[in-house]
Amino acid sequence: MLTRKLGKHGPQVSALGLGCMGMSDFYGPHDDAQSISTIRLALDLGVTMLDTADMYGPFTNELLVGRAIEGRREQVFLATKFGIVRDPADPAKRAINGRPEYVRAACEASLKRLGVTHIDLYYQHRVDPTVPIEETVGAMAELVHAGKVRFLGLSEAAAGTIERAARVHAIAAVQSEFSLWSRDVETDGVLTTCRRLGIALVAYSPLGRGFLTGAIRRPEDLAENDFRRQNPRFQGENFARNLQLVDRVRALAAAKGCSPAQLALAWVLAQGQDILAIPGTRYQARLTENLAALDVHLSAADLGELERAFPLGAAAGMRYPPAGMAMVNR
Ligand SMILES: NC(=O)c1ccc[n+]([C@@H]2O[C@H](COP(=O)([O-])OP(=O)(O)OC[C@H]3O[C@@H](n4cnc5c(N)ncnc54)[C@H](OP(=O)(O)O)[C@@H]3O)[C@@H](O)[C@H]2O)c1
Repeated sequence: MLTRKLGKHGPQVSALGLGCMGMSDFYGPHDDAQSISTIRLALDLGVTMLDTADMYGPFTNELLVGRAIEGRREQVFLATKFGIVRDPADPAKRAINGRPEYVRAACEASLKRLGVTHIDLYYQHRVDPTVPIEETVGAMAELVHAGKVRFLGLSEAAAGTIERAARVHAIAAVQSEFSLWSRDVETDGVLTTCRRLGIALVAYSPLGRGFLTGAIRRPEDLAENDFRRQNPRFQGENFARNLQLVDRVRALAAAKGCSPAQLALAWVLAQGQDILAIPGTRYQARLTENLAALDVHLSAADLGELERAFPLGAAAGMRYPPAGMAMVNR
């Protein structure tokens, strides 16, 4: 398994991790037994980084991951997140909490659900605009000193926030959406800031929430309650325009002799040695397919063709509905 360093001072972890979110939430029906076998196969195949969050479910995804890694803790580089607060009675509602006392309580609760004594990488899921980042990261740093957390991360943080956070404690990773159709980090200063500070970029939704695989042909392919139906890129005219872009990726993948999912992942990993990706799938066969992206090598000519086929900023529609965009730190 190809490994990459998680930031300048971090450990080597698998360049492709496994995103576990869709096993419990957001993307239609799920089957825990199947998901657990997918997580265990990932570990068998050398994947070390598993990605979850307390808000996935809410809470059920951490419980699932905890069950899957029982007895195999030492094989896992376990990443989870705090800070997006959901009301189990109304899971569509969202609040952000970065207050120090909340950070401490959230960590204890995650440790318990995961059944572990420490978390390898603890991310603030969304920056709380009402709490100075220094206070939140200060509380996260205390967790490191207490041995409950090994490395710290931020998710969807702005360049200036990352800079301030890193003055309080080393930040190993920033997790942001990054894929052929979500390239904000290239233009908003996040990637250059990470590189200057020796922080890894962990690309979430590297398959464009499944769209870049070409497997989603119509909005009706998604379950009624699938979150993506609320996502502007999966709606109406945007969907049709984005499908044209994806069909170009499919054609390039066919010419290269790989699947569109593999091409999309190889593109992410080709953007820098400091970038890792955490594609998600519920299925063993797709996990195996996605991991084989590590064998797809893109030449400068391949990358040029992809850039022409899917130029920066070409995707139609915002990557979240307005309420979700409002939670992204800028
Ligand atoms: N920090 C954040 O705010 C944030 C936000 C979103 C996600 N994340 C993390 O990032 C991880 C990955 O992102 P994601 O799950 O949103 O999106 P993704 O990895 O871009 O795509 C996942 C979707 O693609 C489908 N898929 C996977 N492999 C496929 C293949 N080879 N062929 C066809 N379809 C395939 C999956 O469906 P099947 O299950 O049916 O295969 C799933 O619906 C999440 O699990 C989560 O841990 C973090």
